[in-house]
Amino acid sequence: MQTDCQTWGKMSDALVSRMEARGVDDARGKVRWLVSSLLESRSLSAADMARGQVPSPAQSARFAEAAARLLRHEPVQYVLGETEFYGLPFSVSPAVLIPRPETETLVETAAAWLAERGGKGLRVLDVGTGSGCIAVTLAKLFPACEVTALDISPAALEVAGRNAHRNGVAVRCLESDLLSAVKGERFDLIASNPPYVASAECDTLSPTVRDFEPRGALDGGPDGLRVISRLAAEAAQGLRLPGALVLETGDGQAESVSRCLQRIQPPPTVAVRCDCAGIPRIVRAVFPADSAGSEPPDSPEPAPPAHAARPGTGRRGCSPS
Ligand SMILES: C[S@@+](CC[C@H](N)C(=O)[O-])C[C@H]1O[C@@H](n2cnc3c(N)ncnc32)[C@H](O)[C@@H]1O
Repeated sequence: MQTDCQTWGKMSDALVSRMEARGVDDARGKVRWLVSSLLESRSLSAADMARGQVPSPAQSARFAEAAARLLRHEPVQYVLGETEFYGLPFSVSPAVLIPRPETETLVETAAAWLAERGGKGLRVLDVGTGSGCIAVTLAKLFPACEVTALDISPAALEVAGRNAHRNGVAVRCLESDLLSAVKGERFDLIASNPPYVASAECDTLSPTVRDFEPRGALDGGPDGLRVISRLAAEAAQGLRLPGALVLETGDGQAESVSRCLQRIQPPPTVAVRCDCAGIPRIVRAVFPADSAGSEPPDSPEPAPPAHAARPGTGRRGCSPS
């Protein structure tokens, strides 16, 4: 793209037109974000105020490089290498899912539970941490709690560790298939935004998601519930009672995930919370202290084969029907 001797406004308008012609969503918003970032401002209005100004040669070169990536449908957050979650800065790379606004509702739900329990000396686990947005935000909100973050992807854990450092919090990051690395440990709160998109649906997602975000962060198996059902069984065993499990679920999944959790003995108290778009999204299961004091609950009832746990894990999945 020819950018010499052009103002930010002209360069932006030309890029927006080209992105729209290629079907890129919210082209204007992405270009505002890009320009504000090149102006080193966190406020989008910086892009509006600079419309009449001429960028430096270095800024023009960075704009042209970013423009080429946006035109290929790459998410603006990967182009900039960062995003914001819960008002905190997070580095992102294609190794991690870009944190979504609905996950802020999960953090609010988890934070409310931790606050109810006094907010100190509690053990918190984030399963499938990705960028670390859940673990790091909870560690920031509750500095007197001990936060552990797990992910099956070493590349994601590297990003999560960097984000913990960037936000000045201590988070223990461990490579783990679900809870395998913390077997035998107990947590007061387990939070997770697991992969929950049905495999066939992954191919129908917008190119910005499908072609750039990690498939392992999205694909929840044939019905989207494969990881969640295994996680429900393992998490029930990993709680110190009374404990809470807070899960993000896909559009239309909250009810079946709730039913699955209610089959655990003794049954937890399950509540569903809607996200900012009004979609039932966050499932919170609170497991009461039992008469024995702190024994974890039984796993859910045995599952039909489609949802069974992987052979050799020695755990039972639940059947979210
Ligand atoms: C939907 S992303 C969520 C990332 C982040 N927590 C967030 O909310 O933005 C799911 C994450 O789970 C991880 N994951 C997938 N399968 C896993 C497994 N079996 N055990 C641990 N982590 C897993 C993926 O690598 C990915 O980082």
